[in-house]
Amino acid sequence: MGYWTYARRRWKWFLWLLVTAVVLINAAIFIGLTGPRDQLSVRQMEDESHLLIARKRLNKSRGNSSGQAYADWEQKDPLGGDRGKHLNQENSQKQDQNLADHGYDANQPKEVDANYNSRTNYTYKDNEEDNDDEEIIELLKEKDDQEDYVQQKGGQSHGARANYSITQVDQFVQKFQSVYKNSPYAVDTESKYLIHLRRITSLRKKGPRLVDYLHEKCTHSWEIFHSEIRQHALYDPDEGYLKSLLKDMVMKEVVDVEQKEGGTQIKLIITLEDDGQSLFKPMRFPREQETLPDHFYFADYERHNAEIAAFHLDMLLGFHRVPPTVGRVVNVSHDLHRLSNKKLARTFFLSPAGNWCFHGSCSYYCDSSHPICGHPIMLEGSMAAFLPPVERAKRKTWRNPWKRSYSKHRKAYWELNNDLCDKIKEKEPYNTGRRLLDILDMAVFDFLTGNLDRHHYETFQDFDNETFLLHLDNGRAFGKSKYDCISCIAPVRQCCMIRLSTLSKLVKLYSGPDSLSTLMRFSMHSDPVDPILVESHLQALDRRVSKLLHIILSCLAKGKSWNEVIIDDGIT
Ligand SMILES: *[C@@H]1O[C@H](CO)[C@@H](O)[C@H](O)[C@H]1NC(C)=O
Ligand SMILES: *[C@@H]1O[C@H](CO)[C@@H](O)[C@H](O)[C@H]1NC(C)=O
Ligand SMILES: *[C@@H]1O[C@H](CO)[C@@H](O)[C@H](O)[C@H]1NC(C)=O
Ligand SMILES: *[C@@H]1O[C@H](CO)[C@@H](O)[C@H](O)[C@H]1NC(C)=O
Ligand SMILES: *[C@@H]1O[C@H](CO)[C@@H](O)[C@H](O)[C@H]1NC(C)=O
Ligand SMILES: *[C@@H]1O[C@H](CO)[C@@H](O)[C@H](O)[C@H]1NC(C)=O
Repeated sequence: MGYWTYARRRWKWFLWLLVTAVVLINAAIFIGLTGPRDQLSVRQMEDESHLLIARKRLNKSRGNSSGQAYADWEQKDPLGGDRGKHLNQENSQKQDQNLADHGYDANQPKEVDANYNSRTNYTYKDNEEDNDDEEIIELLKEKDDQEDYVQQKGGQSHGARANYSITQVDQFVQKFQSVYKNSPYAVDTESKYLIHLRRITSLRKKGPRLVDYLHEKCTHSWEIFHSEIRQHALYDPDEGYLKSLLKDMVMKEVVDVEQKEGGTQIKLIITLEDDGQSLFKPMRFPREQETLPDHFYFADYERHNAEIAAFHLDMLLGFHRVPPTVGRVVNVSHDLHRLSNKKLARTFFLSPAGNWCFHGSCSYYCDSSHPICGHPIMLEGSMAAFLPPVERAKRKTWRNPWKRSYSKHRKAYWELNNDLCDKIKEKEPYNTGRRLLDILDMAVFDFLTGNLDRHHYETFQDFDNETFLLHLDNGRAFGKSKYDCISCIAPVRQCCMIRLSTLSKLVKLYSGPDSLSTLMRFSMHSDPVDPILVESHLQALDRRVSKLLHIILSCLAKGKSWNEVIIDDGIT
């Protein structure tokens, strides 16, 4: 009785408590909804790369990825129960039955996008005859694959000069040849580009490995990749593991799928049966689709083929700064939906055309009006090898000094002023060592690919400042084949500097006999989803090589001396 009287006397106090609680809960919900969204544009931009994912430990002794193994895993799923529903065989049969009711038949594509290049074979192709241990690009083979390939295709092999010759650049090239006549950077117009590249790359001091991997015992290709990361290059293309890694990313069974949190657009983290992980970016459009003219660079869709092409271009330029990336065709039902958690699985649906689609949840283009669809069930995408987990190899994220404004209304400092380079040159870490020239290499790379979205870059902390820059996230490259992004090359134009080894490669690509487009076409031919780039983008590469040389030339024309512009820092 006492309580009741007490409560009656204190009713105002209780009411007050209730109102306060309601207000607080509402405020929390409100902040939760709006708070992060205001900062979204900034935060997303910083969070783009596949960085902070802790490697999820899967049970290694699981051993096999057969259906039975899945069922075992489902029962003792350490990650929470909801996965079980989607793994459940009965359910997935029911789903297939539903699909059948909708007229779906795996072997009978009902309505295939006319632009979609439908394929019959999804296996990894070797450029050579079935020899796993050979290098991915056979540079110096007696029987010259490349020549054969070019001849088969009826193409001619000439440098960028063939279609994009510039008279002053021709003169500049002659000067270059005479200056470096007897050096390793000499450009011999007869020999192949890949021989030239190999000669320059052989000058590279590899440097030490990541500290945590010094005594690593490796079995899987992705483990070797991690342990072979060196101070001056992410990988060595002449080692067999690179090819095995690319092959594994295509052939190994998918055992887990997660959506990568935090990015602007949908990306999936795919775990394969060897425990290796890759970042999967799905195909959204046919290759011919260009960036929409009214889309800003930060709103552009990501292109899976740009990721693949960027890897090959980086390798052909001898940078070795882009993680190995390869195309793969996955079964949306078997490889993605079945392994998704509840939240992701809810976004899968069957489109009116009978295609398997999903949209995931993210901040741009993750809704049913921007679905990602199989044709009708197989979906193409890019698989980029994960870097070592941050617990084992910390990375440092640096703001790109030539970052864009990421605003519809503002321009960045360097877009209005030409003196950013003079300021940057004085500041650590750009005042010593290789860093500034690496930024310029990155600008060359982004100019060639047409990537405006380079807000940050990363390095491995173990190697301190004297190390290469990772060129991650190239999904917004190769968007406009008719347009050359002159502002992308602003660092080179404003500093009026370029690394000798890089310039030497560009001069070689200009002079021929091989053109960058031919080399790219050949290199990407090994990819399971080849052709990666449509012809107009390949031609753009040659055109941009000529333009790059013209830019260097205009620095010299402005009265700068040869040695001020062309810097030999010994880095290749
Ligand atoms: C891994 O799987 C094996 C066999 O399926 C089981 O015996 C073992 O307990 C599992 N280990 C963990 C950590 O779940
Ligand atoms: C994997 O599965 C196959 C067939 O399902 C079986 O023959 C093989 O022994 C399994 N391997 C392991 C390591 O369990
Ligand atoms: C598919 O691949 C297999 C084995 O690699 C090969 O024998 C077959 O000819 C290929 N089919 C096509 C259509 O390329
Ligand atoms: C020159 O351009 C034509 C037409 O665009 C193209 O077919 C040819 O392959 C190009 N040549 C070289 C060497 O790139
Ligand atoms: C995709 O996976 C489903 C099972 O989930 C299977 O029935 C179908 O045949 C597969 N499709 C292809 C083209 O492999
Ligand atoms: C590397 O650069 C950072 C940032 O400018 C600087 O603080 C640090 O001292 C540099 N490290 C070395 C070893 O010079």
